[in-house]
Amino acid sequence: MASVTSLTASVHQHLANALSATLPEAAAADPLLRRSDRADYQANGILALAKKAKANPRELATQVVSHVVTGDVIKDVEVSGPGFLNITVTDKAITENLAARAADPEGRLGAPYAEKPGTTVIDYAQPNVAKEMHVGHLRSAVIGDSVTELLEFTGETVVRRHHIGDWGTQFGMLIQYLDEHPHELDHKAAQVSGEEAMSNLDRLYKAARKLFDSDEEFKTRARRRVVDLQAGDPHTLAMWQKFVDESKIYFFSVFEKLDMEIRDADIVGESGYNDMLQETCRLLEESGVAVRSEGALCVFFDGIKGPDGNPVPLIVQKSDGGFGYAATDLSAIRDRVFNLKANSLIYVVDARQSLHFKMVFETARRAGWLNDDVKAYQLAFGTVLGKDGKPFKTREGETVRLVDLLDEAIDRASAVVRDKAQDLSEEEITERGAQVGIGAVKYADLSTSANRDYKFDLDQMVSLNGDTSVYLQYAYARIQSILRKAGDVRPAAHPELDLADAERALGLHVDQFAETVAESAAEYAPHKLAAYLYQLASLFTSFYDKCPVIKPAPPKDVAENRLFLSEVTARTLHEGMALLGIRTPERL
Ligand code: ARG
Repeated sequence: MASVTSLTASVHQHLANALSATLPEAAAADPLLRRSDRADYQANGILALAKKAKANPRELATQVVSHVVTGDVIKDVEVSGPGFLNITVTDKAITENLAARAADPEGRLGAPYAEKPGTTVIDYAQPNVAKEMHVGHLRSAVIGDSVTELLEFTGETVVRRHHIGDWGTQFGMLIQYLDEHPHELDHKAAQVSGEEAMSNLDRLYKAARKLFDSDEEFKTRARRRVVDLQAGDPHTLAMWQKFVDESKIYFFSVFEKLDMEIRDADIVGESGYNDMLQETCRLLEESGVAVRSEGALCVFFDGIKGPDGNPVPLIVQKSDGGFGYAATDLSAIRDRVFNLKANSLIYVVDARQSLHFKMVFETARRAGWLNDDVKAYQLAFGTVLGKDGKPFKTREGETVRLVDLLDEAIDRASAVVRDKAQDLSEEEITERGAQVGIGAVKYADLSTSANRDYKFDLDQMVSLNGDTSVYLQYAYARIQSILRKAGDVRPAAHPELDLADAERALGLHVDQFAETVAESAAEYAPHKLAAYLYQLASLFTSFYDKCPVIKPAPPKDVAENRLFLSEVTARTLHEGMALLGIRTPERL
């Protein structure tokens, strides 16, 4: 077994044993253990226990202490305050524990797999065909990618679904226009870049829109095209496919810039559920979950009312027979639950769509597609704000193009890297600039909890001080440089050595990696991992300030042990950042 029992878990076990030795009925009681500044750990659980047993808490605590086995793991335990326990672990246990983590052959730092992993379908990175990507699409992609990594790390089977907007009445207009101007999507070169693809689509979209708004006859032809498209007319479908393919060239270029692997097979857009829509409506209507109202097929909810006080239904089928966003999402649930066999569905989507998902999920529950064993969850994210605290817009009031933002982040980051560069070639500066810039954007997004809004502030994002990815990347690169400079002295664990306070603090924190990842995965909360990593880098900085590794040269065993601590810190940083989708370059 590669998994390593954490010190927290061992201490917990020791306390549980002592508790049940003191009070047999307390065998299952929680000692309420947590890391503490005063000792390594503090346990507060005895207070509640004493209350229940009508005992004096300090006396009970003293009895428990007498039953705690000290030596290997626990060095010292004492009663404090009204009946808390302060616990110190041995230096040897810390070093041995880290040595076991470092020796994990799978490189997982001793992190266990979940006992009962399931199947999760995650819906994220879902831009819209023939449209620019914006910051909202960035958030979905970045958060979804990290949650996917976190879940896979725990052993979960994860199916990715990129629910792109590739269907709707606007395609009638686009297709009709392209049919009348057949060379608009012709490519000069055999290979188009993502930027070119998008600018072609954008030009075409604007031209089609203009004609649609000014020419009644074109409008009629465009509307007829929608009918042809829905009826599956082969020529119309082939034209539609051109728009999808051209858009994908663009999407893939943006995802590549984001250093994110998106697979074509996982792109199942709205159109992918077309042949389920009729059936979905039939099932909902037959079961009485949905009812006809003024010709439309609707689902009603208590307590969901519009500004006029009238109930707002979820419209599954419009009175003209057309299907919308809701019918597609309900069909997608059926596919994900019954075909993909998911136990959990996650939707990484803007909080502004929360009402839609609330109604869709409730409908699916009424239909029996979701239940206590198969759950859906909207991982709702907040709005990206400009420096002024208002939703992010250009000076002209338009939505900011995601690519422009990313390019600017890369430029800024390259300047920072160049400024600090000592032995980097021009080529390396370019490569690192991209890794630092994209890392900065991802980290800024992931380090606040998803449901909160955050300010897109590039100056802050690429700052070397503070809670930024650059700070973490520098900590990692610095350790690599220390390991290079150490020359012949190689990292080696020496459990027999006493540790300085800064070494203990760092070691105890490294030990918590596996638990932090498990918690972040279970709560779909990458920001918890980000906070952990930031603290890890800070603890490393204080350790390195206080405990010389190379100069002035400590005794050889101390130097080896400190190099070992540094190395296991670096590996933890690397693994943790990878779970956030962020690179850790060896040199910066
Ligand atoms: N394409 C949508 C948008 O840009 C997001 C799709 C979210 N996923 C879903 N299953 N509805 O807002």
